[in-house]
Amino acid sequence: MGGNKKIPLKFRVYSMIYPFKIFIKSLINKFKGARKSKIFGTNYVGDKKMGNFNLEGKKAIVFGVANDQSIAWHIAKALNDNGVRIALGYQERVEQLVKPLLSMLNNPLAEKCDVVDDVLLTEFFEKVKKEFGQVDFLIHSIAFAKKEHLQGKFYEVDRRGYQVAQEVSSYSLAELSRRATPIMNENGSIIAMTYYGSVKVTPNYNVMGVAKAALEACVRYLASDLGEKGIRVNAISAGPVKTLAASGISGFDKMLEHAQQKAPLKRNIDANDVANLALFLCSDMSKNITGQVVYVDAGYSIMGV
Ligand SMILES: NC(=O)c1ccc[n+]([C@@H]2O[C@H](COP(=O)([O-])OP(=O)(O)OC[C@H]3O[C@@H](n4cnc5c(N)ncnc54)[C@H](O)[C@@H]3O)[C@@H](O)[C@H]2O)c1
Repeated sequence: MGGNKKIPLKFRVYSMIYPFKIFIKSLINKFKGARKSKIFGTNYVGDKKMGNFNLEGKKAIVFGVANDQSIAWHIAKALNDNGVRIALGYQERVEQLVKPLLSMLNNPLAEKCDVVDDVLLTEFFEKVKKEFGQVDFLIHSIAFAKKEHLQGKFYEVDRRGYQVAQEVSSYSLAELSRRATPIMNENGSIIAMTYYGSVKVTPNYNVMGVAKAALEACVRYLASDLGEKGIRVNAISAGPVKTLAASGISGFDKMLEHAQQKAPLKRNIDANDVANLALFLCSDMSKNITGQVVYVDAGYSIMGV
């Protein structure tokens, strides 16, 4: 056994001081805890709470609400209920489905916008800037591919179909980030929605799987670009959820059934699970998480067979 001689002096000194350091820290914690308990009448322990889920007074831009089933709607509602003011950018074709939802939000801004229309994009961001000043979060929950390209063979996709899927489903994240970040506060958070079909072949998902792979790469490059501004960029990879977009994927019900059978938790997720993860990724609880694809899929993606 090596004696004390082999242990570096620095470490020996540190080891001697360490117990005193912890002792002093615990005394300070106890003292602060007692003071807080006196003030707040709680059994508060420690000098501060571990995390901060207080989003009160923050502002979010949310793209992708089509109806009350939309993942974006669940996220918008969860943020709203936690004190965040919402600016929705929605497509004209879903206006009749989005308008009735607005009464459930606290003083929202809602404007028609399409991510392939530069004029509408410029108008949208000007309105957000005028009304909100600064924003804290950007939720990208949009995707599109022609129905005929979400079935059969991947190689049947034509050039235009491939371009459309990429433009709407992945390039738009870069476009929205570029427009949002000049009015985004430090500690901002950008979140995109993806699916496991980006890394493993999923029948019929085809061109959308390729677009999601690009989207996930965009997340990493954007996280690298925006880190110096203190802005984080992450993707949520959600298990299958029955929504308008999902109904365009041929054999989606089979995907749901398969996911439930194969997932370790033997169940499907729902849009609230995604919203909960989004709350976490917006909050300070995730302040050192960026550039990641975080799965909420009841464990499906860890299984080999
Ligand atoms: N539903 C699922 O199983 C599932 C799983 C993983 C990831 N996702 C992803 O979640 C996101 C949201 O999809 P959803 O399932 O809530 O379906 P959804 O149909 O409710 O949402 C898709 C949204 O994209 C919007 N959109 C499409 N083209 C647009 C354009 N050019 N400009 C602006 N908006 C446009 C639509 O208006 C719609 O609101 C998508 O990125 C989707 O790929 C969904």
